[in-house]
Amino acid sequence: MQIKPLPATSSAPPGAAPDWTVAQDWKGYTREEHATWDLLFDRQAAMLPGRVTPAFLKGLEVLRLSRRGIPDFAELSQRLHALTGWSVVAVPGLVPEAVFFEHLAQRRFVAGRFIRRADQLDYLQEPDVFHDVFGHVPLLADPVFADYMQAYGEGGLRSLRLGALDKLARLYWYTVEFGLIREGGALRLYGAGIVSSYGESVYALDDPSPHRIGFDLRRVMRTRYRIDDYQQNYFVIDSFEDLLHQTRDADFAPLYAQLESLADIESGTMVPGDAVITLGTQAHARARSGLH
Ligand SMILES: [Fe+2]
Repeated sequence: MQIKPLPATSSAPPGAAPDWTVAQDWKGYTREEHATWDLLFDRQAAMLPGRVTPAFLKGLEVLRLSRRGIPDFAELSQRLHALTGWSVVAVPGLVPEAVFFEHLAQRRFVAGRFIRRADQLDYLQEPDVFHDVFGHVPLLADPVFADYMQAYGEGGLRSLRLGALDKLARLYWYTVEFGLIREGGALRLYGAGIVSSYGESVYALDDPSPHRIGFDLRRVMRTRYRIDDYQQNYFVIDSFEDLLHQTRDADFAPLYAQLESLADIESGTMVPGDAVITLGTQAHARARSGLH
């Protein structure tokens, strides 16, 4: 699930509960829809070992996500709840930020119930059940990452009161969606936007184009991101513990006030003080924009 602005006053659509949840209607999936999940699953499961953090692979296993077909959220939630107290609930599409944060703060992950069409395997703007469940849910079985997601939801509710959502949304983007982690000296993937994308799972680690920069909370919250292409910079954490502590221990109100006086940093730009892990060529972004 992504954070996308919807009017805060939007009320739940017809057929949804006041908290925007709907029934998954697992029995309503067609054979073709289950086959699309299987195709996407097999492709990622074959490619990710050695690239993704072992915590993700462990999550796939303990949640038994390798079973064929789109997972039944009720059954999945039972397993997940026993491990970390989280559950997965279905929503009809994007939800307002406050609703999204409230669910996270209560340890509920909201997931789209639809699955992409077989001719859209590689590109999709709206998060579907494959992105939301395959991408996000395995790490919710990790106790520390599970705590981080709850802390993020609580921080999100505070950021709305402080008028600083755009800054905090960047933290979600560069960690939960597009984060990298350094483990045993090697870079590994953990962001859901990467691990649910075949192309970006390769690009984020192997391509010489993007910058890879050590995670710094203030730097991340100043950095714009792109939603229409692979990222031009990735931020690398040392551990989920470190990410949780940096986020939980930060005093966000003065941080937001300080960020107001600092200019945003464009995607693909390095700034003094960056902990450079890989200085990217930015060739991919230049080629896409027609500049050479
Ligand atoms: Fe997402």
